Amino acid sequence: MTNARFRELRDREFPWTADVTYLNNASIGPLPERTRRVLDAFAARRATPHLLSDRELQQMLADARTAAARLLNAAVEEIALAPNTTVGVNTAAGALPVAAGDTVLLSDREFPANVYPWLVLRERGVHVELARTTPEGWPDEPYLLERLRDPRVRVLAISFVQFSNGFRADLATLGRACRENGTVLVVDAIQGLGQCPLDVREIPVDVLACGAQKWLLSPWGAGFVWVRRELIADLRPPMAGWMAFEGTDDFTRLTDYGTAYRADARRFEVGTLPFQEMQAMTVSLDLLLDLGIDGIAEHLRVLRRPLVEAASRGAFSLTSPTDGVHESGIVCVRTDDVARTHAALRQAGVVCVMREGSIRLSPHWYNTSEEIARVLEILTDS
Ligand SMILES: Cc1ncc(COP(=O)(O)O)c(C=O)c1O
Repeated sequence: MTNARFRELRDREFPWTADVTYLNNASIGPLPERTRRVLDAFAARRATPHLLSDRELQQMLADARTAAARLLNAAVEEIALAPNTTVGVNTAAGALPVAAGDTVLLSDREFPANVYPWLVLRERGVHVELARTTPEGWPDEPYLLERLRDPRVRVLAISFVQFSNGFRADLATLGRACRENGTVLVVDAIQGLGQCPLDVREIPVDVLACGAQKWLLSPWGAGFVWVRRELIADLRPPMAGWMAFEGTDDFTRLTDYGTAYRADARRFEVGTLPFQEMQAMTVSLDLLLDLGIDGIAEHLRVLRRPLVEAASRGAFSLTSPTDGVHESGIVCVRTDDVARTHAALRQAGVVCVMREGSIRLSPHWYNTSEEIARVLEILTDS
């Protein structure tokens, strides 16, 4: 994209960035203007429901599944819409055949949405192992690979990108080890999708849960679960959604109760979904897909380069990895006085947060090198 087109798109979709340096996409992704307009237009029509048809509403969901599938290079039949990541992780924890004596392997310090759904399996006698992290607090992949030689490890659940330090899991290597051990790989993808490419036909993930409210620039209430096609038929949904059964598309015969779950991943969808949020997600995903996730990842690499260089000169330290396999768009910085530095950034109109003792900077495709240069000045001065 030319610089002029980039500026034009940034100004059009996020006009408020003229006044604010927003580096907090890992907390809340902003809605592009085009997405907000679609939400507003729908809200106006929602006030007059006689103008909405069931067919149109169902098509909105179908379009959202298609957009999510495109993002992952998945088949649309493998997508179930879900309101957040937690529902997706619980779907995996509730549907996968783990029994007393089996082990679920997690890395310590994961975001709790990817911990509690597994911890409660302890009540069923499942052993949930919180694997030690590296001294930096990152998942210890060599250790996880060692554990993936134990046949009792039935599930590995890990974030694509860690929320507190931006560590991107080497899903290709972990996935291969899982396959060899007959272990199911479940990924919490909310901190990665939208900023890091992921092709599920290339990378051996099995189940992936993702809320769309961060890097996918979508409203709260929108998200999805992806389930590898070979697994769908064997997984019994932990909650029985009324639309999850064959035959429920015909609203004139709803009490002809079926007994068969749908053959595709819609068997994991629960109840009436938020149509407007899902439609908005489609608009935001289409924007990201038009920009190209590879291009976004490259843009973020360019943005973080000066931060990495300054850290290597000793201006401050980074608590994020900087190698090509594990780096991501989340860059976490530690200065002598993190709270003071954070206050200085806030004073200068830079929006970012403190997480686990570091300042978390999470720029997205619309952030600029000039913005990072200003942040760098503050980081080195404070
Ligand atoms: C790794 C990770 N998983 C999950 C979530 C959120 O989960 P949910 O979409 O269920 O609110 C977050 C952040 O809020 C996160 O950083």
